Amino acid sequence: MIDKKILHGGDYNPEQWLECKDILEEDILLMKEAGINCVTLGVFSWSMLEPEEGVYDFVWLAERIDRLHENDIRVILATPSGAMPHWLTQKYPEVMQVQENERRNLPGRRHNFCYTSPVMRKKVRRIDLELSKRFGKHPAVILWHISNELGGNWGDGACHCEQCQNAFRAWLREKYHTLEALNHAWWNRFWSHVYTDWEQIHSPAPHGEALSHGLKLDWKRFVTEQMTDFCRQEIDAVRTYSDLPVTTNFMEFFKNLNYHRLHQCLDVVSWDSYPQWHAAKDEVPVAVRAAAGHSMMRSMKKQPFLLMESTPSCVNWRMFNPVKRPGMHMLSSMQAIAHGSDSVQYFQWRKGRGAYEKFHGAVLDHKNGSAARTFREVSEVGERLSSIQSLIEGTVNRPVAAIVFDWENWWAVEDVSGPRLDLDYVSEVLKHYQVFWEAGMDADFVSMEDRFEQYKILCAPVNYLYKEGYARKVRKYVEDGGCYVTTWFSGVADDTDLCFTGHHPLEDVLGVVQEEIDAPGEDFENGFIYQGTRYLAGRIREICGAKDTAEVLASYDSDFYAGCPAVTKHPFGKGYCYYIASETGTDFLRVFYRELFSASGLHAPLGIELPYGVTTAVRSGAREIVFVMNFCQEDVCLEGIGSFKDAETGDVYKDRIMLERFSCKMLCRTEA
Ligand code: GAL
Repeated sequence: MIDKKILHGGDYNPEQWLECKDILEEDILLMKEAGINCVTLGVFSWSMLEPEEGVYDFVWLAERIDRLHENDIRVILATPSGAMPHWLTQKYPEVMQVQENERRNLPGRRHNFCYTSPVMRKKVRRIDLELSKRFGKHPAVILWHISNELGGNWGDGACHCEQCQNAFRAWLREKYHTLEALNHAWWNRFWSHVYTDWEQIHSPAPHGEALSHGLKLDWKRFVTEQMTDFCRQEIDAVRTYSDLPVTTNFMEFFKNLNYHRLHQCLDVVSWDSYPQWHAAKDEVPVAVRAAAGHSMMRSMKKQPFLLMESTPSCVNWRMFNPVKRPGMHMLSSMQAIAHGSDSVQYFQWRKGRGAYEKFHGAVLDHKNGSAARTFREVSEVGERLSSIQSLIEGTVNRPVAAIVFDWENWWAVEDVSGPRLDLDYVSEVLKHYQVFWEAGMDADFVSMEDRFEQYKILCAPVNYLYKEGYARKVRKYVEDGGCYVTTWFSGVADDTDLCFTGHHPLEDVLGVVQEEIDAPGEDFENGFIYQGTRYLAGRIREICGAKDTAEVLASYDSDFYAGCPAVTKHPFGKGYCYYIASETGTDFLRVFYRELFSASGLHAPLGIELPYGVTTAVRSGAREIVFVMNFCQEDVCLEGIGSFKDAETGDVYKDRIMLERFSCKMLCRTEA
């Protein structure tokens, strides 16, 4: 925990209200009333901190930090690089991004900077150093917040200017040493793409090279490296006069940047979660995706993370923007805590009067002050967080199952030309996570570079790309007794996206021989019978053979490959591999994993099958807390749970527990 308290608060933009002393005073009073103990300052304040080049005005910020401190409210201090002042872009246009079409952006918006530009880096370093010198040891400040949502908002998140092109070429030289090696890795004899000079290499562009898989994969890797380097440079600057920990705010499954890489330069992982609650009456898909986001953030450092932003009410940037129904704010906040957050922070404290986000939900609306429903519900969250502080202190989530989610695989598998052009890696992964969620068993998300031995089940959906060393690790994992589940279109290419030839690298471990991959039209229905029920084969079906040592659990029932295995199980060493050859729905996965959980000795925390919409997550330390969450529109009653105590109220539940709609309870086992 970075603080003794569960943090509750959010983005605070007093610079928009400096002329209104009454508002600034009211802010502090109402923050206390709402149980706010931490605010994030300065995220987009550059023009108010450095109104002219080299002229700094920190008076307003110092006054606010002091006032917050007097009131025992902590500060997360942001570096302001997320949005550039106009004097900067006017004087140094090269700081603005160049898009894939090779046009430089005009001034304005945010996240509009080139992360290679030496001028940009120098100007950011200067303001960061000044902030660090002035506030880096202030007792109110607990954490540095580097920039904002790196890589967000524009195109592929990258800058394509000449300086970035040169940096890319230098990065490639460092990686491949020779053009011969690069030409081989990218298979450049194809369509006569052999490079004879490093200067011939350009970033991918819609009106240029958009079809070279190797180039595109390396470009994405480079963008992550360059952005990480930019972030690292900011960290260096703020650390010059300060020892405080650093974070930057991530955005769930965000394709532009490989967070498994970026998090390595941070002390704490934090993220901004904006689920689309109330898009439909069935909240489960949204709850699953939000839970997955939390689990992913937690899994990076295997430590609690911070929920850096969420809305207390609605957002303003979707086509339609429902306000949270009563109860949902508490439930979604508790969901974050349940999956490992040590904070509930919002965007933002007070709604601005003008500009793009004036209708985005905030703790304080334009009208009605503390009488508003949102304010009351936020205050209830504040009260609850402070009362559960001692219960969750020192606890962590330690799931025994993990799902491989790897950015490089994501980039590669969605860029393949065939077998379908609409492969959606995140949806495939979420199908598996949903089954864990429905069973009340949280799972970690790991990259191919992680360690696996602490998990009883490791599942790797659509694991197309195998990084160097990954196959070896999986082999060892299964040999030592692990249970490995993988699917169609896995183990196809190496980490430069060159297809493996001869054999699948894990053929002997999986016990299957991949032959063809079929992606037929809708008329070509196929299916397979698993434990007496027929399930539809999806849009992509692998045709493979099973080794003698494999057990075929289900076979296709139609077309020329009727009788070929659709699902197999194969013993290897002390463990087992399962291969799901066809795309399937969650209907099949539910039944499949239920079997696997019991075979692997995994038990849901409440020991019962949960009704649809209800889930559990566990944080443990000195004690074990089971969070039970109900995302249904109705109250539900869980029966047969044995004896549990409500960790908050002390009530004892014998065998049954009532959960109101959109609610969460925290339970511990009773001694008996
Ligand atoms: C985040 C961003 C915030 C705010 C918020 C609105 O992506 O970091 O500054 O714009 O979205 O939902």
